[in-house]
Amino acid sequence: IKKLAVLTSGGDSPGMNAAIRSVVRTCAYMDVEVMAIYRGYQGMIEGDFVLFNARSVNNIINKGGTILKSARCQEFRTPEGRKKAHEQLTRAGIDGFVVIGGDGSFRGASIFHKEFGTPVIGIPGTIDNDIFGTQYTLGFDTALNTVVEAIDKIRDTASSHSRLFFVEVMGRDVGHIALNAGVAAGAEEILIPEENLGLDRLLDSLKRSKKSGKSSSIVVVAEGDKTGKNVFELKEYVEKNLPVYDVRVSVLGHIQRGGVPTAFDRVLASRMGVRAVEGILEGKTNLMVGIMDNQIVFTPIDEAIKGHTKIDRELIRVSDIMTI
Ligand code: F6P
Repeated sequence: IKKLAVLTSGGDSPGMNAAIRSVVRTCAYMDVEVMAIYRGYQGMIEGDFVLFNARSVNNIINKGGTILKSARCQEFRTPEGRKKAHEQLTRAGIDGFVVIGGDGSFRGASIFHKEFGTPVIGIPGTIDNDIFGTQYTLGFDTALNTVVEAIDKIRDTASSHSRLFFVEVMGRDVGHIALNAGVAAGAEEILIPEENLGLDRLLDSLKRSKKSGKSSSIVVVAEGDKTGKNVFELKEYVEKNLPVYDVRVSVLGHIQRGGVPTAFDRVLASRMGVRAVEGILEGKTNLMVGIMDNQIVFTPIDEAIKGHTKIDRELIRVSDIMTI
């Protein structure tokens, strides 16, 4: 392998730049040329490539977002789109690539690998932490800290006005951000997609909390929770059934996806980037790098896509005890 490429794809996450930097610098260290692909698979189809060197990634380790830009590319889902992408890679003399992204990006990489045999390694980058084969994805730690900081601020005003706040956090399919942030910020209840305890339990818990003398409360809601009500409907529901509460809603939204990556995410990105390049040069392919018990390990991309991350039951128990 003489020339590798790196791209970011799907929803961005803090730490992606640190991973790009790591891939580029490891290539330089190993004397392998490296092309940056802009705009994810869309850029691969269009041949939006730039030759990078070790200095191309100066001063990005501390930056959120991705300097390579990202996209969710429909065309890459079609055989014609992937054929165009393959032609572009061949024309540019690219022998393999490292893709930083979530499960949609890995799905694309795996199909591409099967069709053309191109060596590929994935680095898990998503704030949702929902990739099988790694205990942490890039950006999860940063997003979690962003959410906790935001909820701490909401708590200040909630407590001044003795209010109940529904705080919606990201997590379309999984509740890792909600559960961890809920525990870290001392939420009264945490509503996650993995577990629907029903609205009665919410009302009971809020009643109990009022009775026990708590004046304000925070309920953290993952956007994919299964109560069947969004945060605004939950507000109405509580106002109707528990009129003692003055309720407000806060949707944190995309602030969760940006910001300066934490030291944890920067270190993780640096480690994953090194192993991704080493792996591909050792002949490994169609694998994802992950971290398990503080070791960088490889998992077949197909398992990473198909497998499911499990919600931390122990943490749910801790949360229940904390809300006594
Ligand atoms: O990055 C994952 C995620 O944050 C999900 O939790 C969320 O539903 C989604 O991205 C929203 O992303 P976008 O606005 O880019 O479609």
